[in-house]
Amino acid sequence: MADTSYASVLETRCLVAGAWEGAGETPVTDPARGEVIAHVPHLGAEAAGRAVDAASAALDGWGAEPVKARARVLRAWYDLVMANRDALAALLTAEQGKPLAEALGEIDYAASYIEFYAEEAKRILGEVIPAAAGNARAMVLRQPIGVVAVITPWNFPAAMITRKVAPALASGCTIVLKPAPETPLTALALARLAERAGVPAGVLNVITGDAPAIGDVFLSHPDVRLVGFTGSTAVGKHLMRGAADGMKRVALELGGNAPFIVFDDADLDAAVTGVIASKFRNMGQTCVCANRIYVQAGVHDAFVERLAAAVRALKVGDGRAPGVQQGPLINMAAVDKVEAHVADALEKGATLVTGGKRHALGGTFFEPTVVTGMRADMQAACSETFGPLAPVFAFESEAEVLAAANNSDAGLAAYFFTRDLSRTYRMLERLQFGMVGCNTGVLSSELAPFGGVKQSGNAREGSHHGIAEFTELKYAVLGGLEL
Ligand code: SIN
Repeated sequence: MADTSYASVLETRCLVAGAWEGAGETPVTDPARGEVIAHVPHLGAEAAGRAVDAASAALDGWGAEPVKARARVLRAWYDLVMANRDALAALLTAEQGKPLAEALGEIDYAASYIEFYAEEAKRILGEVIPAAAGNARAMVLRQPIGVVAVITPWNFPAAMITRKVAPALASGCTIVLKPAPETPLTALALARLAERAGVPAGVLNVITGDAPAIGDVFLSHPDVRLVGFTGSTAVGKHLMRGAADGMKRVALELGGNAPFIVFDDADLDAAVTGVIASKFRNMGQTCVCANRIYVQAGVHDAFVERLAAAVRALKVGDGRAPGVQQGPLINMAAVDKVEAHVADALEKGATLVTGGKRHALGGTFFEPTVVTGMRADMQAACSETFGPLAPVFAFESEAEVLAAANNSDAGLAAYFFTRDLSRTYRMLERLQFGMVGCNTGVLSSELAPFGGVKQSGNAREGSHHGIAEFTELKYAVLGGLEL
């Protein structure tokens, strides 16, 4: 029987220049049930070009709106998202697989960016600065960067959109959005609500289809001034290279390889709670999730025992079933990767504590897994697993673990648990990551700048810093004044 819980927000056409268009061609699959739930259009370069042209044509009008008008539209969008929270979460779970409670949390998280930037629109400030000449006055204006092309991932089908689109709208930019092919329905539903909230035609365009062709238009069209992307480091580098010719700004949120460090003096129960929150959120399919769990020798065995008990207790199943905490992975390639990381670790001498294989439920379900005896030469130490594998490394000293944690090209998120105040400061200052959590496994908030260093990206999203990505500074001097 068809799932009616999200029928009220289901939209399967694309939005270009204020018109809904395209026939359903590309299937969208529910990963828990393996069933096709909808088809979306397969648009390409021609539609992408029209969408950019529409965004370009809408730019002056949207940018000229009084900020309070833009803020009111954003606030109306926020209200509509919250009014449709249950249906949006049901849709998100159906196309992405995360448990319904997490999907509801993601809708709240997504909406929080819209609410925040509805307020922040009113605080996009310039400066009055000293002028070089006595008969002059000078100022710095902060203006919208222009048309923004946005490419978003499947792991957070709602929040990764609003985290970019809301500050772009607040700044006076116009947008062409290409959501992930696995999860286009949440994007289209959000766009429908944005339209109902009063986002004018052409200001927000959403297209699904041929990713390389659409991406090429984003990189080659002269009117696109910023390409925003959340996803793999490899694709981020491709976009950065491609943007060079047109001297476009790129705002990249890329892969992580987060260390999660448990010192001897940590509150072990809090640390276990932190690992579960960080590692097993979205079945481990987050860029900020704990990928390398370092535990100091004195508490190693006690910690592993408690972690294994907590992991064994995780309920796996269809995200719509009551009490389920772990849904399916997004696709078979994701399952293959987790399996390969487990096999590689075990071949090289690691010990399996719990889990370790495809789940008896079949499909793309994988058992929540804990492995100990990890070493730096194992695949799970060098690259993101992006799945429910908790690999534990033992360590002796602070200096040793700091060096190990920083020994990575990635620099997105890091976590540590300790009760020692001096160590807290040493770690906060010396960990080479864009975000660091002490005594917590949860970092994400619309109030904070989300982003990484090294190969994890070059941008910050969320907070007032998020506005900087979508605006440019213009220095203006008024000379010849009679003062
Ligand atoms: C991500 O993993 O891509 C985003 C996670 C978050 O915003 O918390």
